[in-house]
Amino acid sequence: MSPVLNQRDDEYGRDIIGRMRFSVEVVKAIRKVVSDNFIISFRMSGDPMTDVLGLDQEDMFEIAQRLDAINCIDLFNISGGTGAILGAQDKTIPPDSYPVRCFNHLAKKMRPHLSVPVLAAGRIVKPIHAEQSLTEGDCDLVAMTRAIIADPNMPVLSYEGKDKQIRPCIGTNQGCIGRTAAGLSLGCTVNPGVANDHLHDYAEMVYFQRVVVVGGGPAGMEAARVAAERGHEVILFEAEAKLGGQAAYGALQPDRGHFGLHMEWLISELHRLGVNVYCNVEATQDIFMKMHPDCIIVATGARTIVPREAAGIAVPSITDVEVLDANPTFFTDKDVFVYDPSGMRGCYTSNIVKKAGANHVELSTLGETVLDDVDNTNKPSMYKRLREYNILCTPNQRLIGTENGEIVLQDVWSNEFRYISEFDICVFAGYRTSRFEIADSLQTQIPVHTIGDCVAPRSMYEAIAEGVRIGNEIGSHKKVQTFS
Ligand SMILES: Cc1cc2nc3c(=O)[nH]c(=O)nc-3n(C[C@H](O)[C@H](O)[C@H](O)COP(=O)(O)O)c2cc1C
Ligand code: SF4
Repeated sequence: MSPVLNQRDDEYGRDIIGRMRFSVEVVKAIRKVVSDNFIISFRMSGDPMTDVLGLDQEDMFEIAQRLDAINCIDLFNISGGTGAILGAQDKTIPPDSYPVRCFNHLAKKMRPHLSVPVLAAGRIVKPIHAEQSLTEGDCDLVAMTRAIIADPNMPVLSYEGKDKQIRPCIGTNQGCIGRTAAGLSLGCTVNPGVANDHLHDYAEMVYFQRVVVVGGGPAGMEAARVAAERGHEVILFEAEAKLGGQAAYGALQPDRGHFGLHMEWLISELHRLGVNVYCNVEATQDIFMKMHPDCIIVATGARTIVPREAAGIAVPSITDVEVLDANPTFFTDKDVFVYDPSGMRGCYTSNIVKKAGANHVELSTLGETVLDDVDNTNKPSMYKRLREYNILCTPNQRLIGTENGEIVLQDVWSNEFRYISEFDICVFAGYRTSRFEIADSLQTQIPVHTIGDCVAPRSMYEAIAEGVRIGNEIGSHKKVQTFS
């Protein structure tokens, strides 16, 4: 339908009627072969939000009205953006940098002018958003794609008045479209049961266990939640003052407004399930053993580090997590060099540092781009923010080490060396090492299971999946995997 892409000069091109002819013929052909009660829904963007297609909101409005006039369509399903260019692709599955109900206005505009129901899609995340969309007259139906991926029980729980128990979608797109775009099966960061049935159906508790979980990050909390849900008694120890582990820091990142929702849900579920949580407790074997556990799950996570290669830098060097903890004045008028071997954490860190008042910020990475590890729905907002903050991006740079207090980088294509001394502060993002000391120190006859980043630092996806798996296997007929 785009006058830019459709250059035909026959009856399938030329003007809007010609450019719509193919869609009209397809819809009519479908109507002809299906029964009267078969619903034909037409999915379309209400606004491509880019001028590369030569179609704007008014054009899409006209297209919808013309399609409605052929009397074959039962429902218009309205989203936003287009996959035609990277800059608008994020809008097709808007990540959490977009507000909730972000495309309702498009459905609302069309609704009074179409003869059939109109559905709105785009960050309708919770049942309350669906309710508001309907009562405020935005649409007749709602799509809740990722909300249902994150918790397929959402409609039932909401119907039963148990909204607090609904596992929320955090909107980062990494586990769902991020995985499929990378050629993997559909998954979900917060719901590992999507990719693996074994993690969806909880096993019957065959023999009761008193379980001690050490570590209150995503892996430990998930293990505790699932074990408690299946009827075990669970006691969780966390060394920090609050639960969350590294995920709590992730929630402090800008444009990640919903990241913390999963943690809030886990905390609420642990409370509902009667898990005994002790924060501010430095874990020792004596403390665990006083609980007389039948098994111990160690989920002590990972700590961020300044890499070995950076030893000897003359200026202060800190980690990305330390940036989140730092007083913003630390960066005022400073020139800051950020190095992240893969990109995403460094991107967030650079923006935070610049926003805090840094003078000049450079983001350097080994990757071909500074966002190699980021999917296409997250790239546009992240690139725009890097531009807005005028961050200098230098990809293809290998961190070699230091010489006379200067950082040494090597360009991976030219092999040229660069010596960096013009910065006041260096930040290293994404470097982590496992906290395995507690697991190593335990001397006991009872089973000890290690899960999550304390085995090897990876993403929240693996941490949650391992937590669910061990929580599901303890005291069941399933084989308990130790992961260590
Ligand atoms: C994994 C995944 C695959 C999708 N595939 C399609 C698709 O093939 N066609 C389409 O029009 N939209 C597709 N979408 C977009 C959804 O239909 C929906 O418009 C979008 O996710 C925004 O709604 P939500 O905020 O409720 O998730 C997909 C979304 C996800 C998460
Ligand atoms: S992977 Fe993330 S964005 Fe996708 S459905 Fe799950 S929680 Fe939502």
